[in-house]
Amino acid sequence: MSQNQVEGTTQQKQPPRSAVFDVISARRSVREFDGRPIPQEVLDLLVEAARRAPSSCNTQPWHFTVVTDREKIAALAKVAPGGIEQRFISFAAQAAAIIVVSARPKLLIHRAAGTLERDCHLLDIGAAVEHMVLVAAELGLGSCWIGWLHQRKVNELIGRPRRNRVAALLALGYPKEPLLPRDDWDRRRRPREEISSAL
Ligand SMILES: Cc1cc2nc3c(=O)[nH]c(=O)nc-3n(C[C@H](O)[C@H](O)[C@H](O)COP(=O)(O)O)c2cc1C
Repeated sequence: MSQNQVEGTTQQKQPPRSAVFDVISARRSVREFDGRPIPQEVLDLLVEAARRAPSSCNTQPWHFTVVTDREKIAALAKVAPGGIEQRFISFAAQAAAIIVVSARPKLLIHRAAGTLERDCHLLDIGAAVEHMVLVAAELGLGSCWIGWLHQRKVNELIGRPRRNRVAALLALGYPKEPLLPRDDWDRRRRPREEISSAL
């Protein structure tokens, strides 16, 4: 009798409990917000969570511009690049805050990595933004990454140099509707067997 079989019944091993996994499972992209402002200490905590992310050679190739000014948020929600539908970004007009995430790929290590076709700085950015997303989710905040943006227009709006690399925007706010527990992962994601293998 195998370790998992007890008197003819096969017992599934329970996955270990993980509070982080629970937050990951409850998170979804939120595009409708209720208009409540986000306390400054919460915004500070999100940036602190990003600051603590791992990065290649600890280069920390990022800058976070936290935008709460309503006019600027409205303008940022209009920076879809030509040919891209405005709706991919227009929902952000209702966000309580937008964090503009800039990348600094000019560090020597990134240039070296680039010659090896390793775009490490973008991996670093992904880790940092996801730190913010998960802390936000745990605190009941909704968020949505925005990758469809017109870099020059964003830089003009936030007063950064034209060449500044804007990696993404993160729209944040309290969700308009309460977030129900999410049970649609099997429909919304490719099966585990398809995306992973074991050797
Ligand atoms: C790098 C990146 C860029 C994204 N850009 C956009 C975007 O421009 N507009 C948008 O509405 N959602 C955007 N998303 C959100 C994805 O559409 C969303 O994560 C995906 O559909 C899975 O849904 P879920 O986050 O609710 O699980 C982006 C997500 C990532 C990670």
